[in-house]
Amino acid sequence: MPNPTSGHPDSLGPVTSGVPKKIRTPRVAKSKFDAVTKAGVVATAAPADAQFSFNLKPADIAKHLNRFVIGQREAKKVLSVALCDHFQHVRMTLEGQAAPFYQKQNVLLLGPTGVGKTHLIRSAAELIGVPFVKADATKFSETGYVGGDVDDLVRDLVRRAGGDVKKAEHGIIYLDEVDKLATRGDGGGRDVSGRGVQTNLLKLMEDGDVPVVSPNDMTGQLQTAMSSMRGAGGVQPETINTRHILFIVSGAFSGIDKLVWQRLGSKNKQSLDQLIAQTSTADLISYGLEPEFIGRLPVRVACHGLDTDDLFNVLRKSESSLIHQYERAFAAYGIKCEFKDDGLRRLAELAADEKTGARGLMTICERVFRDLKFQLPSSRVKKFAVTDKLVASPELTLKQLLKSRR
Ligand SMILES: Nc1ncnc2c1ncn2[C@@H]1O[C@H](COP(=O)(O)OP(=O)(O)O)[C@@H](O)[C@H]1O
Ligand SMILES: [Mg+2]
Repeated sequence: MPNPTSGHPDSLGPVTSGVPKKIRTPRVAKSKFDAVTKAGVVATAAPADAQFSFNLKPADIAKHLNRFVIGQREAKKVLSVALCDHFQHVRMTLEGQAAPFYQKQNVLLLGPTGVGKTHLIRSAAELIGVPFVKADATKFSETGYVGGDVDDLVRDLVRRAGGDVKKAEHGIIYLDEVDKLATRGDGGGRDVSGRGVQTNLLKLMEDGDVPVVSPNDMTGQLQTAMSSMRGAGGVQPETINTRHILFIVSGAFSGIDKLVWQRLGSKNKQSLDQLIAQTSTADLISYGLEPEFIGRLPVRVACHGLDTDDLFNVLRKSESSLIHQYERAFAAYGIKCEFKDDGLRRLAELAADEKTGARGLMTICERVFRDLKFQLPSSRVKKFAVTDKLVASPELTLKQLLKSRR
């Protein structure tokens, strides 16, 4: 695995300059800062010492993303620009250069499942070092009685910012599966409450104030009342303003290609990727999203499907490749597991047939390595290679391995 902090300084490019060291090792940061909060929201905190400072350029962000995410060039470009625009705007505002007509660059990412939408956002948020929360839109309901209330997302940002409201006000909220909020059309969307959730999100996406303590949280209310009676804790804002919180939403929008196809009325055959890339506001409305909701997501970009070559590169080149997990798991028993290119290619081919993007890699690897993981730790085998042959017939290869060491 390439070491991100070694090599000639020029080869690093400006990606790492000005970025606190801690944030350069995302996998460590993940385990350290991730938490599942009350609403089932997975939240990643910025390191507690990270102050808001922003000196990255779009190419710096794209370069960082290249280390973890294979392909998705357009998405990387668009996302990098939107993030830079947003945080440069915030920085300038904090420095007193107001821009009263600035429109927030909230982002909508669409594309099939397992192609890196979540992976992109998470990797970018880690680089920037702002508080970040991720949740599935399906968790929320209009009233907040079932599931959660969208305001909880904003409160979770405060939690991730270690209680620092000001820091939370510059965070990123990432909402996945927004296509499930569609209320009509071909999307097979859910009931009308999806529309209610969209409406509740609207005010947050623009400029809303959310009470720091939820009105439903009786204990929290009581604690606030007590501490204000005691005059403890200094002046803590009672509300969180969402003006500078960036919203990024994503969804698979399966079936939207048919709406695009109908709208285009074109006779030429087009691939799924080509059709999805041409999704317009009208298509998203026909799919069942509210025009006001879509209108607050001005930056839109599609992620493409991953073919066998892409999946091979996900395994071979991405720093977050699944193969490191397997190498580690075997290394724990003193077994060296060496991945060969022909083995990786065969894994990628099998995963492509699953049609679930890079998630197919996990399915295939789990199946291929199941018996090896069970039996090798108690055997005398200290080393094995993951070849085309092993992937094609793991049981037979395991038998041969065990025999050769007896
Ligand atoms: N383009 C990609 N490059 C590298 N890894 C990827 C890519 N797409 C998906 N993955 C891997 O697959 C996992 C699932 O992808 P995810 O980003 O959650 O998919 P989705 O597009 O459905 O949000 C990620 O955690 C990552 O390990
Ligand atoms: Mg996702």
